Amino acid sequence: MFSYLKGLLLALAAVQFVGASTLLTGQYTCVTSGNYELCNNQWGIANGVGSQNATLISTSGNSISWLTTYTWANNPNDVKTYTNVLSNTAKGVQLSAITSAETTYDWYYNTQSSGLRADVSYDIWFGTAESGTAASSSSSYEIMVWLSGLGGIQPVGSSIVTGISLAGYTWDLWKATTETWETYSFIPHTTGTSITSFSADLNVFFKYLTANEGISTAQYVQAIQSGTEAFTGTAEITISTFSVTLSG
Ligand SMILES: *[C@@H]1O[C@H](CO)[C@@H](O)[C@H](O)[C@H]1NC(C)=O
Repeated sequence: MFSYLKGLLLALAAVQFVGASTLLTGQYTCVTSGNYELCNNQWGIANGVGSQNATLISTSGNSISWLTTYTWANNPNDVKTYTNVLSNTAKGVQLSAITSAETTYDWYYNTQSSGLRADVSYDIWFGTAESGTAASSSSSYEIMVWLSGLGGIQPVGSSIVTGISLAGYTWDLWKATTETWETYSFIPHTTGTSITSFSADLNVFFKYLTANEGISTAQYVQAIQSGTEAFTGTAEITISTFSVTLSG
């Protein structure tokens, strides 16, 4: 009788704990909370060996907090995963109509192995239609903004412009053309820079691209994601505050 009750109480405690935060373990499992969808996106795991989990900590107002824990080995130049949040509200505005795209991105590594190869980044998707799924046939452009890139990793393509001053930092711009969309990646100009507390108007990056790279202002922002791309190593990273608001 005693052990039965004890087991029941332990089971109830476990249920309560799950209610306080949500753990995602599957390859493409996601959870929606507040204005965001958190996805434990492990799209590249065929190129590696390891595992990863993501935990939704909380949402409050237009902010979300989450963490991810991973360990990945093999093929050091291949991305294994992009644990990310997708905004369900910051989308569907034409570039010409955007008045601001305010964002906050505060993060830190709780633990990181030596030689960790990973970035912390935005992944933003433009297309000709008002709405479209990220990384799909409706995508015309992928815009990445890296707040950190460790271990000597590089964006896809090649460097096309260096030393661009935007949002209070200096960036290099990389470009790649794939069969389906063009990717522009802004990375910190100084190797090894990690911007751990970022507050900016993302529209300054969009305006740079329409003014200098020929992206049409008729394009729509279809999706804004933020997260971390893991190449190799072991880490636990906490995104303590992320928010993005698209106005226009
Ligand atoms: C992820 O969760 C699974 C199942 O609970 C566990 O076996 C694995 O060790 C976890 N991976 C990491 C990197 O924490």
